[in-house]
Parts: sequence; C-alpha cells; structure tokens
Amino acid sequence: MAIQESKYIWHNGELKDWHAATVHVLTHALHYGSSIFEGMRFYATEKGPCIFRLDCHLKRFYESAGFYRMPLNIELAQLREVCLQVIRANELESGYLRPLAFHGYGSLGVDPGDRPAELMVAAIAMGLYLGAESREKGVDVCVSSWQRVAPNTIPAAAKAGGNYLSSQLIHMEAVRNGYTEGIGLLQDGSVGEGSGENIFLVREGKLYTPQLSDSILAGITRDSVIQLARDMGHEVVETSIPRTMLHNSEEIFFTGTAAEITPVRTVDRDPVGSGKRGPLTKTIQDAFFGLFDGSTEDRRGWLTAVGGNA
Ligand SMILES: Cc1ncc(COP(=O)(O)O)c(C=O)c1O
Repeated sequence: MAIQESKYIWHNGELKDWHAATVHVLTHALHYGSSIFEGMRFYATEKGPCIFRLDCHLKRFYESAGFYRMPLNIELAQLREVCLQVIRANELESGYLRPLAFHGYGSLGVDPGDRPAELMVAAIAMGLYLGAESREKGVDVCVSSWQRVAPNTIPAAAKAGGNYLSSQLIHMEAVRNGYTEGIGLLQDGSVGEGSGENIFLVREGKLYTPQLSDSILAGITRDSVIQLARDMGHEVVETSIPRTMLHNSEEIFFTGTAAEITPVRTVDRDPVGSGKRGPLTKTIQDAFFGLFDGSTEDRRGWLTAVGGNA
C-alpha cells in the first residue's frame, strides 16, 4: 500500500515538513529493528474527525516500549495532544495515525544504551487496507508456510518493528501465490493471526478467536469486536483454534486497525461457508462502522474528537 503523503510530521518535539522528517543511516532501529509503534484510525463523524480508541492505543504504545525498556521522553498526556495536533495540522477528516518511537543514532552495538528514543507521529489518508471490495466481498487467504514467532523468542504482545519481519514473510508469500493475506500458525499448529490482523471464526452461531495466551498481538479491534458482539448477545469464545476449523467454519473474518473488519471468503481455495460475507460478519461490521455514523451508540467513550478546524 503506497503512502499518501500529507503535509507535516511531528518529529522529536516539532512539526516538520513531510520531507524534512528524516534520520541518519546509522540509526539503530534501521540495523536492529529497535522500534515500537502504534496504528490508529480516525474517522469522519458528526463531531468532525474522531480517533478510535486513542487511549487504548497509547497504553499499548507505552507497554510495547516497556518490554524493551525503551526510554520515552514524553508523558502520555503530551503524546495524546501531539496525536490530535498532527491530524489538525494536516487537515485530514479521516485516515491513519502512526506514532513511532525508535532508537536513533548513537550506538552501533546491539545494546542501544539508555539514550531517549526518537519519536515521531504521522497522519495520512488511508483507504481499505485489503483492497477496494474487501469489506463486502471478502478476501482469499492461505495458511502460510511461515509460523508466527514462538513464545519466548520475541514478545508477540509488543508492537515492535522487528516483529514485522515475520509479518512480511507471511504477507509477501501469500501475495506471491495469488492470495490477499496469509494466516500464521502457532508453534503447536493452531491458528494464530494474519500478518497484521487478528482472526475470528463462526461455528454454530458462536464466535471463536485465539486466546491472548497464544503468541498473538492483543488487537484493539479484536477487543472491540468481542465487546460489541457480547453487547448484542452473541457468545464469544477465546480459545486455542485448531487449523481444521479454518475449513469447517461458517464464517471467518479478520480484525485490525488497518483491515477493520474484513470477511475471509476462501482459505487455501476452499470457500468459507457460502463463500460470501456471512450474516454474523455483516452484523458485527454494521455495529462497528455504526460507531462512526452514529447508528451505534459510543457507550464506552471509544471516540476522541480531534477538535480544531480540521
Ligand atoms: C500482527 C498483528 N495482529 C493483529 C493486529 C490488529 O491489532 P489492532 O486491532 O490493535 O490494530 C495487528 C495490527 O495492528 C497486527 O500487526
């Protein structure tokens, strides 16, 4: 997905012109993957642009930094303000927000030392991550020959740059073989997640999703879907999912900030259910996207208005 350039990026304390926000080639993170980041969407609503679950994303950002003892030289409340400021400065109504902290120039050794991390926040326009028709028609996926990272290798719960080498292998292999996305299995052969999405399966009317004790990212869209589904009286089971369930489920969908809620229509060329978006997937999509057009009540204060004149 090509970047749609906007005007400004916040970098180490100041808003810079898009092309002026640069780093040195000996930046530690370029060599060793030592970065942590978040991805949030903001949506056009009646109250102007609103960020979805900003505080939850910021909490995960600080937790990801914590796994690596990365010193963030900014209080959460200040970073929160920066997120709002960057969207306003770029005059975007909807899009994607990317805060990133990384070890910069200073150490060539693997140990980055205790210098404060560099920090940047970018806001860009973003359409449908898994393709123009993916929300209604669904996507074709495969089980990857690459597994997700094993427990006690690197923490899957951290949203860290280095983790995304695993995601790249899974995604690029899938695309090379004619699929839109790949599913990474876990060390025990059970279902893990997509390269950038969590996964839900529907069987006999119940929703199933891998449990957080599995080596997966604790997705914020995943959590939102669980809460919305339970609000509507649907049972959600967080458990270990055998690979075979990819072939005898009535419906499957991905969840993620970028992918939002995307139906899966085939797995390894086998149709999922009818091979079309299933009714429960549609119900969950309606509840989720309804948060932004006001047809679903924002009962939990998940939307943060960006404010200003954006
Ligand atoms: C590996 C991985 N799993 C799951 C997700 C979904 O997480 P969220 O819903 O918080 O965006 C993402 C995207 O951030 C991801 O990169």
